[in-house]
Order: sequence, then structure tokens, then C-alpha cells
Amino acid sequence: MKAIIVYQSAYGHAGQMAGKMKEGLEESGLEVTLSAAKKTDPKMLLDHDAIIFGSPVRMGSVGNEMKTFIDTLGGVWLESALQNRVGGVLVSGGGFNAGTEMTQPALYSTLMELGSVMVGFVNDMPGYGTGANHWGPYAQVGLEGKDGPSEDCLTVCYEYGKRVAGVNKSIRG
Ligand SMILES: Cc1cc2nc3c(=O)[nH]c(=O)nc-3n(C[C@H](O)[C@H](O)[C@H](O)COP(=O)(O)O)c2cc1C
Repeated sequence: MKAIIVYQSAYGHAGQMAGKMKEGLEESGLEVTLSAAKKTDPKMLLDHDAIIFGSPVRMGSVGNEMKTFIDTLGGVWLESALQNRVGGVLVSGGGFNAGTEMTQPALYSTLMELGSVMVGFVNDMPGYGTGANHWGPYAQVGLEGKDGPSEDCLTVCYEYGKRVAGVNKSIRG
């Protein structure tokens, strides 16, 4: 079983989150590829059971490199080639209520167009409310980008990786 995390990260925060999620997925037995959005060919996704998108919040929405990558997915979408994969998201924002909860569903919508079965985050999991909402892990890195990702956020990413792996086993195993 294989997972791929496609992400954009200018200052390393979303990258750190992706690294922790990778640990949670690997702990659960998945083989994981971390892939920078600008170096990801859409065909790479075909070989993976679980697909995670990670982005910083940029002007209230998805970052430019992730958006450019998303716009390359038309071909695999047209062929319904990625249906029934397990989908998840991670998002790093600078502030509170400054677009994180808009960026998460923006990433969801693409994964759902591709036919993914989405995995959220549950309110009895460690870090809920401080490092994740129901849509998945988020970081709040502050105006100067020095505040995160917090320990809670990194714990969330690890736990979310395990949850994605569990759902993956039910659906793809
Ligand atoms: C051009 C630009 C626009 C940004 N817009 C937002 C925004 O609308 N809301 C927000 O919370 N953070 C915003 N930020 C802060 C980024 O979310 C922050 O730099 C990012 O989470 C850091 O993650 P990274 O290190 O993975 O790039 C913006 C940053 C840049 C450079």
C-alpha cells in the first residue's frame, strides 16, 4: 500500500507537517512518497492508494504551486483514473481565521472531483482544536512565521497519518 503527499511549502512549515504525517502513515505500514507540487507529475498519483494535498494559505486560499499542480489533473480526472483513493489534506496558515478553513475545503473539492473517499479528523483525537479541525491538520505559524507548527499540530499530523492509513486499509486493503 502506498501514499503520496503532494505539497507546497515556501518556509518549511507545511513540509514539516507532511514529514510528521509520513511518520504516522509509515508506522501503519504504508510506503510514503513526499513530493513537492512543482515537481509532481499527475501520473505519479496513479501508483498510490492514499493521496494527501498540503498547502500554505495564500491570500485566503490554496498556494500557487499547489493550484498549478491541481490544474494539471484534468487528464486523470477526464479518465476517472483516480477514483476510490483515500484523500486527505493539511494546511499551514499565518493567522487565526484568515483562510485556513477556506483552503481545506478548496483542496477537498479537487480530491472529491477525482473520486476520493475523504478522511476528516475526529474531536476525540489528540490535538483537536489546537492543531486540527474536522477538516484535518492545520498550523498557525503567526505573522512572521515563527510560531509553528506547534507540538500539538505535529502530533495531529502523526495521528492523522495513522487515521488515513486505517481508512485506507478498510477501503483499499
Ligand atoms: C503571499 C502570501 C500570502 C499569504 N496569505 C495568507 C492568508 O491569507 N492567510 C493566512 O493565514 N496566512 C497567509 N500567509 C502566510 C502563510 O500561510 C505562511 O507563510 C505559511 O503558512 C507558511 O507555510 P510554509 O512554510 O509551508 O510556506 C501568506 C503568505 C504569503 C507569502
